[in-house]
Amino acid sequence: DGRTARAEDMMARTFQTVGVVGLGTMGAGIAEVFARAGLRVIGVEVDGRALDRGRATLHRSVERALSRGRLSEEERDGVLARLSFAGSLEDLRDADLVVEAIPEVMEYKRALFADLDRVCRPEVVLATNTSSLPVTAIAATTSRPGRVVGMHFFNPAPVMRLVEVVRTVVTEDGLAEEVAGLARRVGKTPVVVGDRAGFVVNRLLLGYLNHAATLLERRVAAMEDIDTAMKAGAGLPMGPFALLDLIGLDVSREVCEVLFEESRDRVYAPAPILRELVAAGLLGRKSGRGFHDYD
Ligand code: CAA
Repeated sequence: DGRTARAEDMMARTFQTVGVVGLGTMGAGIAEVFARAGLRVIGVEVDGRALDRGRATLHRSVERALSRGRLSEEERDGVLARLSFAGSLEDLRDADLVVEAIPEVMEYKRALFADLDRVCRPEVVLATNTSSLPVTAIAATTSRPGRVVGMHFFNPAPVMRLVEVVRTVVTEDGLAEEVAGLARRVGKTPVVVGDRAGFVVNRLLLGYLNHAATLLERRVAAMEDIDTAMKAGAGLPMGPFALLDLIGLDVSREVCEVLFEESRDRVYAPAPILRELVAAGLLGRKSGRGFHDYD
């Protein structure tokens, strides 16, 4: 109700500065969302070249918003002034919340959360943007598992409204609602979900996308026709192959693997063509080619 939403809003105001670790497609988009909503953002990439790329992605996106008239020059300057970049986790000392958006490899995430736990004050909330790994296991690498949640954004993060806030069995009471309040404050629509593979969206979406790849392999229809069919016949903004390319074929395959492992439901067993394209390094939009060609 309104009173609960207001209480959430009040709590959400305790978040002033947000750290974002990893400035790839998702991390750069997430940093932009917070900075445009008026929060201070510290973007961290330990690799110098990745840091430069992340900074460039962010600047491009903000300039595009300006040229499309979605930001005034003054607002653009404000966004850029609130954004800072760093090559070390030590610079996250002032953050009230840290959102991790590094590659979906459990060892990397575990090592990072152990480091964040050392660097960040005990009350700081640590969030992961993982789409396929268990948040509970990530939380368990810290001395504050009760202050760890999932904050799952969707690609492209500046555009897609949903944030899945993942609550684990050890998340402190009220914390998921507080993080949902923050998501609302930055213009997103949150839903609180449990820590089950794929949460809600990917669990439903990846079964469909993987099924589309199977239809293609069985030559039920041509790729372009399957894309057209789902846009014109089901009212979706993109066909399944365009969407797989947007999500990234590596991420899509990974999410399918995890869903298959947990459910043993064949609908999630990654279609051979998906594995093949990933093995060939054709990862979708981000690599210039996947099911479609972007060069
Ligand atoms: N970054 C910032 N803004 C972007 C953008 C990006 N990468 N891509 C598009 N936009 C903006 C455009 O600038 C445009 O805004 P303006 O009209 O104000 O200029 C707006 O979004 C619409 O874009 P376009 O007109 O270029 O194209 P469109 O109308 O076809 O929309 C789309 C593009 C928003 C991506 C739309 O096709 C869509 O919603 N597709 C489905 C995306 C989806 O399902 N994402 C979820 C994937 S699942 C996931 O991410 C979870 C996971 O863990 C795997």
